[in-house]
Amino acid sequence: MSPRREWKVAVLPGDGIGPEVTSAALAVLRALGPDGPRLELTEFPWPATAYHHEHGCMMPEDWRERLARFDAILLGALGDPGPADDPDRYRLSDGVSLSPLLEIRRGFDQWVCERPARWIEGAPQFLADPRAREVDMLVIRENSEGEYVGQGGRLRPGTADEVATQVSVFTRFGAERIIRHAFEQARRRTAAREAGELPRRSFAGGRAGSQVCLVTKRNALRHWGELYTQVFEELAPEYPDVATHHELVDAACMKFVTSPWLFDVVVGSNLHGDILTDLAAVLCGGMGVAPSCNLNPSDRRRPPMFEPTHGSAPDIAGRNRAGPAAMILTAATMLDWMGEEDPAAADGARRMRAAMEAELKASAAAARGTRETAEAVARRLQEGAGR
Ligand code: IPM
Ligand code: MN
Repeated sequence: MSPRREWKVAVLPGDGIGPEVTSAALAVLRALGPDGPRLELTEFPWPATAYHHEHGCMMPEDWRERLARFDAILLGALGDPGPADDPDRYRLSDGVSLSPLLEIRRGFDQWVCERPARWIEGAPQFLADPRAREVDMLVIRENSEGEYVGQGGRLRPGTADEVATQVSVFTRFGAERIIRHAFEQARRRTAAREAGELPRRSFAGGRAGSQVCLVTKRNALRHWGELYTQVFEELAPEYPDVATHHELVDAACMKFVTSPWLFDVVVGSNLHGDILTDLAAVLCGGMGVAPSCNLNPSDRRRPPMFEPTHGSAPDIAGRNRAGPAAMILTAATMLDWMGEEDPAAADGARRMRAAMEAELKASAAAARGTRETAEAVARRLQEGAGR
């Protein structure tokens, strides 16, 4: 048997509840035991507000070279370091403390952000309709261009004539790669449904086993909306087995609330994806259970970054109160990514998810601490959950 691959992971706990949920996820990863993937975990004190306090910057200048040596990055959270009732805590503007997120996504051209939203029993249910339990969508956010390119500026600052510009950039190249990725993921979901790993669904008259919904605002933001629509229509014939659909972003928000079970794969711009994924998270129990990842599928040697959708939650930071489910499920997503080359990682992802879900189901009503939840999930793994 060939020796198993070892994965080098850069662990960036970050700010606020980041360190707590990160150690919870690491405890669960370790509990996968000798059958789990071989992970070499290296922890970094940056990016973090505390690091900025000491060094005057969120990350060292050579952060890119240093992170490039790793196979993957696992990040807790960035922002207000909390606890919120400490008025003397060292605080930075969001523009500074959160900038590493955008720099790392850009630095490794992590052009896909995937945020699955699947209802998990035991997680809070905010929608009263029982069909909300059937929600199972994958929201794909374009992660490299659009509204997030950071171009523009402020003219005549501080004067009554001040002007701010925030330029969006949309390219055919960017549209093609993200829309193609959405179709490919839809196909994978059809295969997973056929293998019994996902519940079967039917779209477009019951023929297709999966669907891609493109979200734009093409009735008002015509230029990019029409470019993305055109690329979507050009690529769709290559995927006759995938149903297609389009929604304007405002209508998509409404339908996410009234009938989210009708969505499968959803693909949207950077900003639309950002907003839709918070909404999708809440449909499935909230930010506390929403995993997220930033990937570069065209170059697997560039490290992807796995980070939960939630922020640093300064109001509960340092109090062992943060729910670690989102971070644990995010770490499972990291193993999914490794699992494309490493069966031990694919199996580990399955086991971790099963253990986390079983724990949510069993302890829904109990207000457990961060560490206690991690220990309970780890125990379930040691007892063989998901085998
Ligand atoms: C997210 C966050 C970030 C984003 C912020 C913190 C810059 O909201 O990961 O969704 O908008 O991408
Ligand atoms: Mn967001």
